[in-house]
Amino acid sequence: MSEVADIGQKGEVVLAARNVAKSYGNIHALKGVNFDIRRGEVTTLFGENGAGKSTLMKILSGVVQPTSGEIILDGEPVAFASSSQARDRGISIIHQELSLAPNMNVRDNIFMGREIMTATGVDFAEEERQTRLLMEELEEDIDPLTPVEELRLGQQQIVEIARALSVNSRIL
Ligand SMILES: Nc1ncnc2c1ncn2[C@@H]1O[C@H](COP(=O)(O)OP(=O)(O)OP(=O)(O)O)[C@@H](O)[C@H]1O
Ligand SMILES: [Mg+2]
Repeated sequence: MSEVADIGQKGEVVLAARNVAKSYGNIHALKGVNFDIRRGEVTTLFGENGAGKSTLMKILSGVVQPTSGEIILDGEPVAFASSSQARDRGISIIHQELSLAPNMNVRDNIFMGREIMTATGVDFAEEERQTRLLMEELEEDIDPLTPVEELRLGQQQIVEIARALSVNSRIL
């Protein structure tokens, strides 16, 4: 699970791990890991159970902090103390376990915690309009007013992706 560092070459590495290690007590989850994520590309990471895939993704998205090594964003070292700090820099993560409220509709899930407000309250019409645009962008025929629990699992994952995209994620 390693890749040669080459920031500065063509293909533009936007996010990278450099010689990252993570230990939990005497368990070495990661050791000497180099990993590049490039603009406009889908990057796949694979490895056996316990190889450290989730740990690396959590480090790149600020959920956990490395024991040593560096995270490089746009060529500059960064240290994320939390996932919200990573999100502020455009990095979002979608966990395998979904984080949607099943009894709420698609629109309300996408804008949960960051509702669009008018002087008189939540602007549901604008939220619905933006949700429709997101679904068009993702080429998904999902009605914004459908309760999430009525969607198939794959569609629920689309809702998670739409929510991440709607907060201007550069790296998902
Ligand atoms: N919070 C933790 N405390 C202690 N050990 C941990 C913790 N998180 C992960 N580990 C250990 O670190 C190693 C890497 O785990 P990780 O979950 O990153 O692997 P993975 O590649 O995602 O595995 P899987 O394919 O099963 O999802 C494993 O040995 C795991 O037991
Ligand atoms: Mg995992």
